[in-house]
Amino acid sequence: MENQSLIINGQNLEGDHGNIEIKSPWDLQTFASVASASKVQAENAVASSDEAFQTWRYSNLSDRMEIFTKAIKSLREEAEWLAQLLHKEIGKFEEDARSEINRSIDYMELMLSAMKHWKGNVYYGDIDPKYPRNKKTGIYSRVPLGVVLAISPFNYPINLSITKVAPALLSGNTVVLKPSTQGAYTSYEFYKHFTKAGLPNGVLNIVSGSSKEIGDPLLTHPLVKLIAFTGSTEVGNHIRKVSLGVPLLLELGGKDIGVVTENADLELAVKEIVKGAFSYCGQRCTAQKLALVHVSKYDEFTHRIAEETQKLELNPMIDESAADFVMELYIDATSKGADVKVSPNHESNKLSPAVVSNVNPEMRVFYEEQFGPLLPIGKYETEEELIKLVNGSPYGLQASLYTSNIDQAFRLADKIEVGTVQINAKPDRGPDNFPFGGVKDSGQLMQGTIETLDLMTRGKMVVVNT
Ligand code: G3H
Repeated sequence: MENQSLIINGQNLEGDHGNIEIKSPWDLQTFASVASASKVQAENAVASSDEAFQTWRYSNLSDRMEIFTKAIKSLREEAEWLAQLLHKEIGKFEEDARSEINRSIDYMELMLSAMKHWKGNVYYGDIDPKYPRNKKTGIYSRVPLGVVLAISPFNYPINLSITKVAPALLSGNTVVLKPSTQGAYTSYEFYKHFTKAGLPNGVLNIVSGSSKEIGDPLLTHPLVKLIAFTGSTEVGNHIRKVSLGVPLLLELGGKDIGVVTENADLELAVKEIVKGAFSYCGQRCTAQKLALVHVSKYDEFTHRIAEETQKLELNPMIDESAADFVMELYIDATSKGADVKVSPNHESNKLSPAVVSNVNPEMRVFYEEQFGPLLPIGKYETEEELIKLVNGSPYGLQASLYTSNIDQAFRLADKIEVGTVQINAKPDRGPDNFPFGGVKDSGQLMQGTIETLDLMTRGKMVVVNT
């Protein structure tokens, strides 16, 4: 069985706690293993990244960009092999795994071009009569913070790590990456291309292991200057509690409500919501996890959704407990009066898509994130009632409005409290140059390209007095 070692200061190290086995969701057979780091190893990784920062921060941007250019080239050559690994490791369809790998390499290209446009500013003192022209000039630049702790989730281990790692490294920070265990194997393989491209030792350290053992030591390490995390709201809230004033970029859960108004093109809404709810088995923060439908369209919409859902073949869920949780919410909803439109087949981590209608806020699935292939459908009558239901959600990542009335689109988009409102399309993080983030239990701050560079650096003024 193949094993991946920790990467700390350019060394491949065995984990002090041995290895953790990774089972492929497709057949639940052991696929590979990754090293399990100890608290001391996690601390060493941060210390090594901090030491590397003292040099990397003053490196030439052209040198950093050249390393990226080389890594992009060799990643492109291995993209298909990496996609196959990812497909096995996290149970994504081959096509989706391929898209994640390619999208991640494309993002690196995008960041290289962002670096060409990212700039500071010049301030002139002659706004004040005390300082005649050219007497006082302020040069405002952005400088790196230090060690960035990047924590990536199982559902997009590559894309949701590179969108942290690339802006951090290009802006002169160093990184400790803690990948989710499921996804860590492919992550190690992906980031080896950076070493091969000449990234100096310690600039990117990778530590896999149990969150119980290394989570808090990393999160509370005094040399960590920024935490960029994507994952569950539960862990995100823990990070908010323990992180002691360190800036946080958090992308957490979402409900991503699909609102089907009386003016919706039903064919479009059904197509988008089915895709939005069930792709990658609903294990996406942007999966459409509740549909609220105007009473005038409710029966037809529900009927069509059920018809389309029955045709789907889904990938397996990441593990059995994830599937059990979806079933728990399904049973809760049906026991409280939800109508079963498509019933699920459940065996271990395999769960077929399910649809329940007539849901209301008394049912857990109305506001809790199922993160799986279950679409609940509720109805509303007035816009006032709709806004109350949507904004009653603890989540605020995205929402979709299906309407052919542009006035209604603007009116509702203005009132819905989320990071992104999609008009006539399913929720989506991409394209990756779009700023993305949520509010409330969905996280904080909008990430993107230039946006992330700004968030991962601080302003610095040099004032030239003549
Ligand atoms: O799971 C959270 C991801 O940010 C969702 O990304 O919209 O590209 O599927 P996606």
